[in-house]
Amino acid sequence: MDWQDYLDTNQTRFEQELLEFVAIPSVSAKPDHMADVERAAQWVAARLEKAGIENTAVLPTSGHPAVYGDWLHAGPDKPTVLIYGHFDVQPAEPFDLWLSPPFQPEIREGRVWGRGASDDKGGMFIPILATEALLATTGRLPVNIKFLFEGQEEIGSPDMPPFIAAEARRLSCDMIFSADGLQWTADEAQLVMGLKGLVGVELIVEGAQADQHSGLHGGGINNPLMALSQILASMKDAQTGRITIDGFYDDVVELTVEDKEDIARVPFDEAEYCAELGVTEAFGEEGYTVRERLWARPTLELNGLTGGYQGAGSKTVLPARASAKITCRLVANQRPERIAELIAAHVAAYTPPGVTARIEHLAGDADPFLVPRGHNASQAAGEVLREVYGADPYVTRVGGSIPIMTLFLRALGVHGVMFGFSIADENLHAPNEFFRLENFRRGQTAYCRLLERLGQ
Ligand code: BES
Ligand code: MN
Ligand code: MN
Repeated sequence: MDWQDYLDTNQTRFEQELLEFVAIPSVSAKPDHMADVERAAQWVAARLEKAGIENTAVLPTSGHPAVYGDWLHAGPDKPTVLIYGHFDVQPAEPFDLWLSPPFQPEIREGRVWGRGASDDKGGMFIPILATEALLATTGRLPVNIKFLFEGQEEIGSPDMPPFIAAEARRLSCDMIFSADGLQWTADEAQLVMGLKGLVGVELIVEGAQADQHSGLHGGGINNPLMALSQILASMKDAQTGRITIDGFYDDVVELTVEDKEDIARVPFDEAEYCAELGVTEAFGEEGYTVRERLWARPTLELNGLTGGYQGAGSKTVLPARASAKITCRLVANQRPERIAELIAAHVAAYTPPGVTARIEHLAGDADPFLVPRGHNASQAAGEVLREVYGADPYVTRVGGSIPIMTLFLRALGVHGVMFGFSIADENLHAPNEFFRLENFRRGQTAYCRLLERLGQ
């Protein structure tokens, strides 16, 4: 029996096992699900062992645990490949919008429905099954393999920086593949070469010690809401969409001609995009296409504004305080800490007289990530995708983040390659998340072929 036969013969069992895995409510954001995240870790470690992986261990961090396993008998002349994924999931609320309960997964229409089915339990299970099939049918693996799965990706991997640094020896490798990743459509492949980073701040403007009568004091003192609006308006050019914060673009890696060609090759209908979102026209940084802006340019967005009277009718108040929540999506090589500092300096320079303004750096920093062109492991991944899908993959980037990719790069010196089989329409983070079983199966073939190619 070859590995394809093995995968076919065992597919029903694999699907049942995936249902069992998705049924564990490993929601990393919620303290009352801590034990479930631990249970998911134990499930993964046991499943790795069953597949024939050695040295499996649930490794503690200062928060949710990680799971490790390896098989290192391919020989010193073969590469060592680290495969990554996450077994934690997003909260499932609002529950009443689910057609079947998020943690009682079921199969309908050739899809597994449940929280985490696509992001990332279905995805991270795929390479485990590929190694099981190779070990069961050939008795060995074509390369040395290390698995690292984490239980805190969906909360921004807060405890992983010291963990990865401390475990750098155990994790040392020649290549990294992330089983958390997307393909373009159900039957078109993509190579995701870039992920965005994230930084969030709150801007707080204060004036008088308490709200005042706007007739008694209007004209006498400044208004924090107006001052806040003026500071915010100074951050972005209303016509060109350029962010006007001094130094904001300094560390941005510019798109090369080849990068722009790759992006232009990906189908995009601007009119359809606008119609879908219900906007009259697209808007963003001048000099870049919509796709370039979405994938490869940093952004600054207001997420919420607070201050003054919000009730019915009017109220002649001069508010004492106003605030704004701001997040920036970052691209390589911007650093969250540095961007927060630049915003603070801008605010200090643009604060009008008669009010004070300050910036609070919010939790949840994520670093941007960009794979260099011509990178060997991503070329191998691209060739395997071409074989499996019968056409060249699109070369893309995404606006989402996977914080550990930059941690790997810093601690291990290796750029990870996204090799995952979810599709953007699978309701990731939303009600009725699902994973296509055809891609669950196709991913298993792709991983077997990838490992064989890397071992040649
Ligand atoms: N798998 C996603 C990231 C992703 C999304 C990759 C779309 C490729 C395409 C991951 O699980 C995720 O949701 N990341 C969070 C990170 C945040 C919590 C720091 C995100 O992007 O919001
Ligand atoms: Mn994910
Ligand atoms: Mn996610």
